[in-house]
Amino acid sequence: MSTIEKVAIITGAGTGIGSKTALALLKEGYCVVLAGRRMAPLENTVTEAGSSGSRAFAVSTDVSDPASVRSLFVKTKEKFGRLDLLFNNAGIGSPRALLEDLTYAQWKSTVDTNLTGPFLCTQQAFKIMKNQNPAGGRIINNGSVSAHSPRPDSAPYTATKHSGGFHNHSQSCKLSYQCFSYH
Ligand SMILES: NC(=O)c1ccc[n+]([C@@H]2O[C@H](COP(=O)([O-])OP(=O)(O)OC[C@H]3O[C@@H](n4cnc5c(N)ncnc54)[C@H](OP(=O)(O)O)[C@@H]3O)[C@@H](O)[C@H]2O)c1
Repeated sequence: MSTIEKVAIITGAGTGIGSKTALALLKEGYCVVLAGRRMAPLENTVTEAGSSGSRAFAVSTDVSDPASVRSLFVKTKEKFGRLDLLFNNAGIGSPRALLEDLTYAQWKSTVDTNLTGPFLCTQQAFKIMKNQNPAGGRIINNGSVSAHSPRPDSAPYTATKHSGGFHNHSQSCKLSYQCFSYH
């Protein structure tokens, strides 16, 4: 690959915001690793990118699974050699339900995807970004207006996007890693 090409990982890149972001970055000349659990939507995005899809690489990934996330970043390093941008975008809503009726599984799946997923991906991204030359990179966490304007009966989603978790996680990372040009 050319040394001037920038490399991005986008989680949840098969649909919605992630897919549109992947298409925009490919158009801008980035090499883009598209991550999500289902291959078909990832491949649809690559097809939609047309000729710029030659710089795309789809990797089936479950962001809530540490081994799957590790594999995503190993494959990215093998394929493109570096990482300049991580977009922690994969996320799920939670079923509208009274708090006392929520099951543990419903709570856990939302937290695992929306909060643990970005943690696991950020951890792996730091390992690449701080050891590459030039060092550093950008990490963008896709939050939600729900962090500040919660909707009723959506406790798991609101909790994962709220400043008590997601936002402060971002701020803490920024403080820890400002020494090597992490934004
Ligand atoms: N749309 C909005 O109005 C809005 C507003 C505020 C914030 N957001 C945030 O924006 C992000 C994207 O939302 P969207 O509207 O574009 O939703 P979406 O179309 O449902 O996209 C979510 C993506 O995340 C992937 N995903 C879900 N669980 C995953 C997991 N465990 N591992 C890997 N990928 C996973 C899904 O693919 P697979 O099912 O194939 O894994 C899917 O492609 C979310 O974080 C959401 O909270 C959206």
